[in-house]
Amino acid sequence: MCGITACLREEGSLEPILTGLKRLEYRGYDSAGIALQNGHGIGLVKRAGEVDRLCEQVEKGNLQGTVGIGHTRWSTHGPPTDANAHPHMDERGSVAVVHNGIIDNYSALKSHLQRRGHHFASDTDTEVIPHLIEEELENGASNDEAFRAAVDLLDGTYAIAAIFDDEHAIYATRMGSPLVFGEGDGEWYVASDVPAFVEYTNRVRYLHDGDFIRITTDGFELTDADGTAVDRPLETIDWDPETAGKSGYDHYMHKEIHEQPESLRRTTQGRVNTLTGAVDFEEFDEDLFAGVTQVHLVAMGTSYHAAMYAASLLAARGVPAYAFMAGEYSLMRPPVTDSTLVVAVSQSGETADTLDAIRRARSAGARTLAVTNVVASSLTRECDDSLLIRAGPEIGVAATKTFSSQVTALMLLCERVVADVTGTPSAESRDLLESISRLPGDIQAVLDTSTALEVAQAYAGSEAYFFIGRGVAHSVALEGALKFKEISYEHAEGFAASELKHGPLALVTEHTPVFVIFTGRDDEMTLNNAKEVQARGAPVIAITSHTDGDIVDLADHVLTVPETHPDLAGVAANVQLQLVAYHAANQLGRSIDKPRNLAKCVTVE
Ligand code: F6R
Repeated sequence: MCGITACLREEGSLEPILTGLKRLEYRGYDSAGIALQNGHGIGLVKRAGEVDRLCEQVEKGNLQGTVGIGHTRWSTHGPPTDANAHPHMDERGSVAVVHNGIIDNYSALKSHLQRRGHHFASDTDTEVIPHLIEEELENGASNDEAFRAAVDLLDGTYAIAAIFDDEHAIYATRMGSPLVFGEGDGEWYVASDVPAFVEYTNRVRYLHDGDFIRITTDGFELTDADGTAVDRPLETIDWDPETAGKSGYDHYMHKEIHEQPESLRRTTQGRVNTLTGAVDFEEFDEDLFAGVTQVHLVAMGTSYHAAMYAASLLAARGVPAYAFMAGEYSLMRPPVTDSTLVVAVSQSGETADTLDAIRRARSAGARTLAVTNVVASSLTRECDDSLLIRAGPEIGVAATKTFSSQVTALMLLCERVVADVTGTPSAESRDLLESISRLPGDIQAVLDTSTALEVAQAYAGSEAYFFIGRGVAHSVALEGALKFKEISYEHAEGFAASELKHGPLALVTEHTPVFVIFTGRDDEMTLNNAKEVQARGAPVIAITSHTDGDIVDLADHVLTVPETHPDLAGVAANVQLQLVAYHAANQLGRSIDKPRNLAKCVTVE
């Protein structure tokens, strides 16, 4: 749950590494550090706190060099202190290392090294790596041999980059944590994610588990653990630096909310045939899902809400489908056979709970499918098949555009699964696909006309915020509440509208606004729930496509969404709730892109 970056560039690596760290802060931001080799040794600066604090410190010194590494940390072993910040070095100062992941066997390695006289300066698992390398160097190994031998001793997950005091080179490898290599003209980059260096080069190679890369001014060598050359395709990223930056918005989250028409266009591009009602996934073989008897969807957080959304659609189309919190899946052990399709939904593709659920599903013989935003993520490698949601990079910790793209991609997947299982598209398919093809325009209309700011202002200072809906709107209610609480730090809860009378109604007062999501299906029943909360004095904010009638007459505020297929209505409704959460948090002055205690990618269980 950290970001690593490395650069080799004749005109100096300091600036690209600091830029990279700022771009990677979404991966962790409790401490940061940088090490540069300057021809005479390795200069190191590291600090607890955000990257800006590191930059201030760097400005005070004269750190420079043409090859270096950087790290932004989210603590797992040891609190966020200067000493625990990366990079970590050996005692001789011959190697500096940054690491993302967890070394499971670090305590055995550390004891072994301590018995051999090594002294440790931090509480981290990472620090064993430079000491292991030092041991190998003392035994006469070359830098390359020492790096490989040390890595060979590690159990766990890692992406590691290292520089040596006597060589103009970067060494890097990965196992279970992401690592991407960027090739510029006479300049090279390695990072946990592309935004770290996309303003310097857009040519990338995604490294696989077990790959080693050594970069020098002469170029790079990409090999496997045995030293045999491997080839990873060169890909061109079509994000420009503006895309990776905030593009004039105050927050990445606000920018990402506004990117949704575009990201949804990418999600659906080439996949929707409105004439035949068929979904075309070029990544899947014909009849891939024929023979599937049940579908399990496993995910966490926002992705779990997308999974819930999809499970209710599949079940309504006659395919038994269940959404599980991935963290509970292994413990619940629901029956799985070789005709069970287990779909892992994860923006990052690196969530530990979701990976664990997929491993359990695989070992029980299930067919597995990753639905993710990240090409070459761990999940895509561990699943039999992958479906990319194509939302583009999401930097704000709170998931926004990826939720919309997940739900939309899953909706297409549901139609495809039903068609393969039953041999014919669902009765809803054509109408739904038509609505999906209009979705980017519908979301644009929401963004252009939303009165979410007014609503957020009207209910500022409330005791709590409740969200209710039924059917697919139940998952949107949960997601609306999650978004609200994680960035505003205010108490927010989502409920199935049907659940209200069975307990939650006791919480409802005139100080608890209730957001009621109407989809165009079973609206009468949901309207009754709105009346129940209003009778207890609660203000009602209706999210609806109606512009007049009973819902509008009853509501204290209306957030309007374009009329669409009821199965799709939750996506636009959720965009309104994203905006309400954003404005509520903004007026409270919260750290919107980096909410307290949260990180973008949760790679520990
Ligand atoms: C909330 C949020 C988290 C993630 C969850 C799973 O805004 O982003 O709840 O949805 O940590 O992450 P992924 O989707 O990367 O598996």
